Amino acid sequence: MIWAVIPAAGRGTRFGGPLPKQYMEIAGRPLLGHALDALFADPRVDGAMVALAADDDRWPGWTSLHGRPVLSCVGGGERADSVLAALQALPADVGDDALILVHDAARPNLHALDLQRLIDAASADADGAILAAPVRDTLKRADAGADAGADVRILATQPRDHLWRALTPQAFRRGDLTAALLRARADDVAVTDEAMAMERTGARPRLVEGREDNLKVTTPADLALAEFLLSRRGQ
Ligand code: C5P
Repeated sequence: MIWAVIPAAGRGTRFGGPLPKQYMEIAGRPLLGHALDALFADPRVDGAMVALAADDDRWPGWTSLHGRPVLSCVGGGERADSVLAALQALPADVGDDALILVHDAARPNLHALDLQRLIDAASADADGAILAAPVRDTLKRADAGADAGADVRILATQPRDHLWRALTPQAFRRGDLTAALLRARADDVAVTDEAMAMERTGARPRLVEGREDNLKVTTPADLALAEFLLSRRGQ
């Protein structure tokens, strides 16, 4: 069994728009709707659980999309809390061995072929797998200038060999991911993605190279780019 978990409880404060960014629209549909459509493009995905903010008044109330169930639950204060809440709210028949695809609500451009390759890889690997892209820019480590309100200066150049950017979906077994997130919480470690929680348990998830255009909408410019990329899909 394969279920998607969508953390969509963020307030999108960095975006600065009138709406939480998961409800910003491209091509007449909220980002969250595009994220769900992209996940259901693979017929192996049995359903989706969406974690929403407690005071969310914009959830369209979907109960099914593309012929499969869509459930919702209340998320938490951090992304990892929202994912954990969604994992715990999954129906009882979604067993510990079920594959869970955690996907950001703000990533509307997930490509069907990438999803297919990720599911294939994670299904065949007990440690799970994530979509990721090799780092192509030169990376600079900065001093603490900005924190101190001063100019920011380069301390060092970070070798970029073997460095990847973590994308979503990230795919793990329900039982393993729940245990890993509970452990991170007990250890008071803020994990910024699911793989980080799994790595802390000794797992070595596979990196599945994904398309660079699977972008996380964070700024208004990203929204325009996401809309452009989506419009080119049919061509
Ligand atoms: O803010 P950021 O872009 O990192 O958020 C990534 C995803 O996590 C978004 O889909 C956002 O809605 C979600 N999130 C959440 N609960 C939080 C914070 C973020 O579900 N407390």
